[in-house]
Amino acid sequence: PKTIVEPFRIRSVEPVGFTTPEERKELLAQAGYNPFLLRAKDILIDLLTDSGTGAMSSQQWAGMMASDESYAGARSFYRFEEAVKDITGYAHVMPTHQGGGAEHILFHAIASAGKIIPNNNHFDTTRAHVEHCGAEARDLVIDEGADLALIHPFKGNMNVEKLAALIEKEGVARIPLIMMTVTNNSGGGQPVSMENVRKVSALAKAHGIPFFLDACRFAENCWFIKTREAGYANVPLIDIARELFGYADGCTMSAKKDGMANIGGFLAMNDSKLAEQCRSFEILMEGFPTYGGMAGYDMEAIAIGLYEAMDERYLAYRIRSIEYLGEKLQDAGIPIIRPTGGHAIYLDARRMLSHLSWQEYPAWSLNNGLYLLGGVRGVEIGSVMFGLQPDGSEKEAAHELVRLAFPRRVYTQSHVDYLAEVIVELDRQKDKLPGYRIVRQAQVLRHFTVLMEPV
Ligand code: F0G
Repeated sequence: PKTIVEPFRIRSVEPVGFTTPEERKELLAQAGYNPFLLRAKDILIDLLTDSGTGAMSSQQWAGMMASDESYAGARSFYRFEEAVKDITGYAHVMPTHQGGGAEHILFHAIASAGKIIPNNNHFDTTRAHVEHCGAEARDLVIDEGADLALIHPFKGNMNVEKLAALIEKEGVARIPLIMMTVTNNSGGGQPVSMENVRKVSALAKAHGIPFFLDACRFAENCWFIKTREAGYANVPLIDIARELFGYADGCTMSAKKDGMANIGGFLAMNDSKLAEQCRSFEILMEGFPTYGGMAGYDMEAIAIGLYEAMDERYLAYRIRSIEYLGEKLQDAGIPIIRPTGGHAIYLDARRMLSHLSWQEYPAWSLNNGLYLLGGVRGVEIGSVMFGLQPDGSEKEAAHELVRLAFPRRVYTQSHVDYLAEVIVELDRQKDKLPGYRIVRQAQVLRHFTVLMEPV
């Protein structure tokens, strides 16, 4: 049989939140028209993020029961460290409370005013961490990666020529680190190829610049390498992962994604001197180096989850379910980022809501429309998320997207069919969707707390 089934059966269930259209209208108004401020109980299908929202396996729960909660030197830390070292090969492993914790430590150690951190695309909080240290976050994804509709197998790739030119122009002293985000979340969950990582690695080495991966979705990226890049079809996923990590000098990791855990992360690296510096920051910012902000049971869940994320049956099902929704939407003529990526569908709101200007925040409007019509929550990746400049001015974001991110092992095919139905119906009514105006906002990462009103 060709049908790809969910590679698990469900032994513990949680009710989803049914509401009426009238209730949703009221609830969204009460939330200042910001879906981040809704209560999760009022959402039917929650695709706000794939971060920390996955279902854990019976193996992980069993591991958690057997955890060691000692403050220092817990058995659970050593299991966690062993798993991370086995997969990444890095000599130093620092647990953190989530990915942002690892970024906080790393950028605190290496970034400061006048420095530039190149990346294919920085994720929003990663960019904020870089800027918080006074450094500049520079996005150097290939041109194909910025063309939403163009089909390319590795749209997350770094533009190596631009990277070389940047190093040439600004000088090694201004570039303390080169990063690559796998998969490229802000750019559509698009993968990077092993060949591209190899080239970036060689360039970084030639200049003596450390090269780190933002490895949140490494397993999904490795699945795309296996299925799309010549020479990898028969290589076990873990060996692809080891090769990928092997080209870098270290990584930041949010274990809330391909760690299959509800919380946690780590910073890992080979450089002993940098690690020593980072460890002192870790104690200050996260906690003692054998727990770093996590409970022993969190470290157990991650030690098991990292391997479960590399299970090929699981990856085949996960990537296929996203592709399946993408096919249904494309059949209905709805513009999305193509090809579909590793963890999410991205609706192109600029094309869908062409009656709204970017100052009316079309992706914000589309996302709110999804909630009002179907009780579905996604997230805006557009001019609300990225438009506010450090100097307080507004700039149009590169794209106006609504991301529908899939929690791991949580929703089934009927949920996906329902989603397709809601999006297709909303597309029919799209001309009625209003623009939005900002009523109140924070100066950094405003999308989380902004209050809006329809105009
Ligand atoms: N890097 C990338 C590429 C991410 O997608 C995220 C989080 C982080 C770093 C930070 O990790 O949340 O554990 O501190 N992304 C989530 C998302 C929140 O919705 O895409 P964190």
